[in-house]
Amino acid sequence: MNDIFDAIQKSAIRIKDAIDVKDIGYSQKENSSGETQLELDIKCDMIIEEEFSRVSCINTIASEEKEHAETLHEDGRYFIAYDPLDGSSLVDVNLSVGSIFGIYDRAFGADKMVAACYVVYGPRVEMVFAQNKTKLHLLQAGEFEFVKEICLKEKGKLNAPGGTQQNWEPYHKALVDSFFAEGYRLRYSGGMVPDLHQILLKGGGIFSYPATSDKPHGKLRRLFEVFPFAFIYEKAGGDATNGHKDLMTLDYAHVHDTSPCFFGSKYEIKKVKEVYAQNE
Ligand code: F6P
Ligand code: MN
Repeated sequence: MNDIFDAIQKSAIRIKDAIDVKDIGYSQKENSSGETQLELDIKCDMIIEEEFSRVSCINTIASEEKEHAETLHEDGRYFIAYDPLDGSSLVDVNLSVGSIFGIYDRAFGADKMVAACYVVYGPRVEMVFAQNKTKLHLLQAGEFEFVKEICLKEKGKLNAPGGTQQNWEPYHKALVDSFFAEGYRLRYSGGMVPDLHQILLKGGGIFSYPATSDKPHGKLRRLFEVFPFAFIYEKAGGDATNGHKDLMTLDYAHVHDTSPCFFGSKYEIKKVKEVYAQNE
């Protein structure tokens, strides 16, 4: 696992350089979810693949930017699914972006997840790694230094509601409004990594990306977005659901499968489950 942690750190430092210097022209390609790939997305994907190909314990990788999973080392133990540059369309407006990694033992699947990690590229570069606990690291002078363990409070103050409101179910809108009515404040940049990072570091709240009329299975991808953050939130003392089931109990059929998702502290997720249970 240390070798994987090192490879993620090396990738993060190289990706930060790529974000700083690379012109983000559009490529002619789309990824498997139909999003236009930026040259920067492809560059970041290549950086991670290159670093992971040097780590013999990594068996297979799956990436948001690759159609299929690829085997790196047949004798390796770990399967890693990653989103090389989450929120990449926010680079041109100079908002924070991130990389997300789900580390699985011998096969992909929430029940096989042994660690998860994300990196935020903002005014500072920070990395959150969860294995038994969720820990924050800060990039300083070319090295990641441990800062602190992250623990969510029982209840937070931030509300990050994703998806197009026009396409929300009425009960979902009522749920989002009920948090505002309790005094929660809106915090939503449109980047999953910084939005979830903010909630984690400010002690709690709720991030939602529900099923909508235009995206009935949600938008965010199970293997490299949903499961890693569910794992990270749970290890930080929070919770994660699709409205009806804990996210970490879901299976997957294809590498790019999506799921509606809610991540937060215990209080908010309990409320989500109550509202969704009444609307099954
Ligand atoms: O990777 C998908 C993503 O860019 C996430 O980073 C983000 O949370 C979400 O899409 C934003 O989607 P929307 O603009 O529909 O709220
Ligand atoms: Mn993404």
